[in-house]
Amino acid sequence: MTRVKLLQGDITTAEVDAIVNAANEVMLGGGGVDGAIHRAAGPALLAACREVPQVSGVRCPTGEARITAAGALKARFVIHTVGPRYGIDANPAQLLADAYRSTYRLALEHGCSRLAIPAISCGVYGYPLDEAARIALGVSLEDEFNSLEMAFYLFGEEIYTIWETVLAEYKAGT
Ligand code: APR
Repeated sequence: MTRVKLLQGDITTAEVDAIVNAANEVMLGGGGVDGAIHRAAGPALLAACREVPQVSGVRCPTGEARITAAGALKARFVIHTVGPRYGIDANPAQLLADAYRSTYRLALEHGCSRLAIPAISCGVYGYPLDEAARIALGVSLEDEFNSLEMAFYLFGEEIYTIWETVLAEYKAGT
């Protein structure tokens, strides 16, 4: 369980193999953690995103992940993933789980073992925090991802406490 850590803070300060970004399908930046990551990474990240092939404007469909260089961030890569818009996209629970799984599989494919991860879909995309925590931590603790060291960077006291409670439940096997 120690391979999954919860931290309260700004993900752009992480020194890891890959920083995970809560992006949108266009993948050219935005608000929230996406905006923070692009600000900290600098224009090189946006340039790298523009290189990602797009199909009628979509670079990363919801539930999938794409990997780019990390610009000025203290990481080798940024893994951009797109979570569901709660109340808009169908099957949000499945799509949120897919976003985390796609992210972790891409990390493994690129030899990344240390990841910094935000709470995907928990801001602009409006996912209820406790449900999102169960899905995120449930996927994170799957055996397939045992070799990954995951640091969740949670922004604020409320969400940190919710995730801490859910992680404790998983540890207790409840
Ligand atoms: N570090 C860590 N977490 C952060 C940071 C930060 N610097 N800034 C915001 N967060 C948190 C939010 O508080 C929320 O808990 O990241 C979580 C995800 O929220 P959003 O960034 O709004 O992402 P999401 O809900 O997935 O919506 C994605 O928002 O910013 C746009 O371009 C993005 O269109 C996309 C959409």
